[in-house]
Amino acid sequence: MLNQKVEIALNEQVEKEGYSSALYLAMASWAEVKGMPGVAEWLYIQSDEERIHMLKFIKYINERGGKAIVPAFKQPEKEYVSVNKLFDEVLKHEQFISKSINEIVGICVAEKDFTTQNWIQWFVNEQIEEEASVTKILDKLNLIGDSSLYLFDRDIMSLRSESSTGKTAKAT
Ligand SMILES: [Fe+2]
Ligand SMILES: [Fe+2]
Repeated sequence: MLNQKVEIALNEQVEKEGYSSALYLAMASWAEVKGMPGVAEWLYIQSDEERIHMLKFIKYINERGGKAIVPAFKQPEKEYVSVNKLFDEVLKHEQFISKSINEIVGICVAEKDFTTQNWIQWFVNEQIEEEASVTKILDKLNLIGDSSLYLFDRDIMSLRSESSTGKTAKAT
């Protein structure tokens, strides 16, 4: 049976991953309307990955004898000031998610739930990758400045690592 404190924390993470998916979907839609298909594609794929993360939490909670709860998600912003600001926000959000995952690890240790602690290690590593990939995008954006957004939009998909392209989205 899943420890109750762990179950609560995992269900909170279901909400956070689901919100991440909605947030990146809103950002993707904004970029698409603004005529940046590359940025939009990157964000649409990111949104799909976050949904898969949410599913991983739901399935794990249920498999371990808990009960996953699918909550309402708050509505993300409709407007973004610039592509730069948008990716700043993505990085801040990923840092927030990393902190949240680390807090779950802490709860697992305190509650001696070493099974979940071991399971969630995948997310600890995933967050390292997520933060690094967004940092790489921000570095590139800062380098090129606002004038070359067209080229940036064309190239952004090449900044995705092999493991996080749409074709190999982590579905397991
Ligand atoms: Fe995630
Ligand atoms: Fe993420």
